[in-house]
Amino acid sequence: MDYRNLAKKYGTPLYVYDFNHISTQYTQLKSAFSGRKSLVCYAVKANSNLSVLKHLANLGAGFDCVSIGEVKRALMAGAKPYQIIFSGVGKSDDEIKIALQSEILMINLESEAELDRVEAIAKELNKTARISIRINPDVDAKTHPYISTGLNENKFGVDIVTAKKMYLKAKNSAHIEPVGVHFHIGSQLTDTQPIIDAAKIVSKILSELKSLEIDIKFFDIGGGVGITYQDEEAVNLYNYAQGILAALNGQDVTIVCEPGRFIVGNSGVLITSVLYEKFNKNKRFVVVDAAMNDLIRPSLYDAHHGVEFVGENEQNSTCDIVGPICESGDFLAKNIWLPTCKSGDLLVVKSAGAYGFSMSSNYNTRVRAAEVGVEDGKDRLIRRRETFEDLVAFETEFLK
Ligand code: LLP
Repeated sequence: MDYRNLAKKYGTPLYVYDFNHISTQYTQLKSAFSGRKSLVCYAVKANSNLSVLKHLANLGAGFDCVSIGEVKRALMAGAKPYQIIFSGVGKSDDEIKIALQSEILMINLESEAELDRVEAIAKELNKTARISIRINPDVDAKTHPYISTGLNENKFGVDIVTAKKMYLKAKNSAHIEPVGVHFHIGSQLTDTQPIIDAAKIVSKILSELKSLEIDIKFFDIGGGVGITYQDEEAVNLYNYAQGILAALNGQDVTIVCEPGRFIVGNSGVLITSVLYEKFNKNKRFVVVDAAMNDLIRPSLYDAHHGVEFVGENEQNSTCDIVGPICESGDFLAKNIWLPTCKSGDLLVVKSAGAYGFSMSSNYNTRVRAAEVGVEDGKDRLIRRRETFEDLVAFETEFLK
């Protein structure tokens, strides 16, 4: 990819996504379950750019959404309503209402109280709500505590006993149709065995439900498939899929998965320009025009993102890559080897396609970066850079 040309054309900081790579990732995962009924529901939160969603919708993907905003984005991008799942621990009445009116595939419930709300709203609208229940299988995903979700100490889902109670209640309701089971135990799992272990637990519940004449059609295994940021071994998709199939033990269901990072993580980079170098005593800092507001993962999770210098330069020494925000936590990389940089040199922050732009903010009144998609060698702007006027637009009308 010609980073120099892209930076010149669109400015920096700039997110660039390789749409061909997105297709490859999607196809790989879809094929891992070939021969079985499956639905790959891309987790919109990872990267919710409309053009990314449209690209995936064209490939046949479904969508996993965690707010009605994400549902609306998916629909706007051409998603089929019956391929949309709406999850999340706290859905408002309005969100539930719109989800029901949109005739999406299923609402994923995360508490008993939510079942009651959905039932009441469905009744009011004279509709039947298709639901799944997020089961917390109490399995340790062995990932960063902030992105581990399958333990009882996490806020997500309901325990097995509560889930069964909810399924019975749902079965007996005139306005609820239980169609799915769901679990998601964490993100960036480079060992998928914990997902398979969880699948075994949930698969057992599936057969118990069957004996209660609750016919579940969708077995949703969540997302979480990890990617290589540094030296993590790539996940073996064949073993992952085979493990899930074995856990299902021949039960006839559609396998749903909700990958976010796996689809877009290594499909995107963040290009940033060097502003200058500085030394505090012996400590070398390279100050760049991207900051924690553009990519918060290093600050928030101590996440590693590879950084590549664009161009040739032999002189290496270690440095921190830092942004202009007034926080010591504002760094993109620490203690990495880099050539001597001068103002205007470009750095490419790798593996930034997932939870990069989607977690960006306007902190320090910084405009959010532009986003560009590249497909078959052709680049196009898919989100323009924000302007100062965009940032103050919601306030100016109230200014006295
Ligand atoms: N399904 C559910 C119910 C989820 O909560 C998530 C992610 C996914 C699917 C997609 O997971 P993935 O395949 O991308 O691992 N901001 C963090 C990641 C938070 C993930 C939250 N849930 C990060 O930057 O690492």
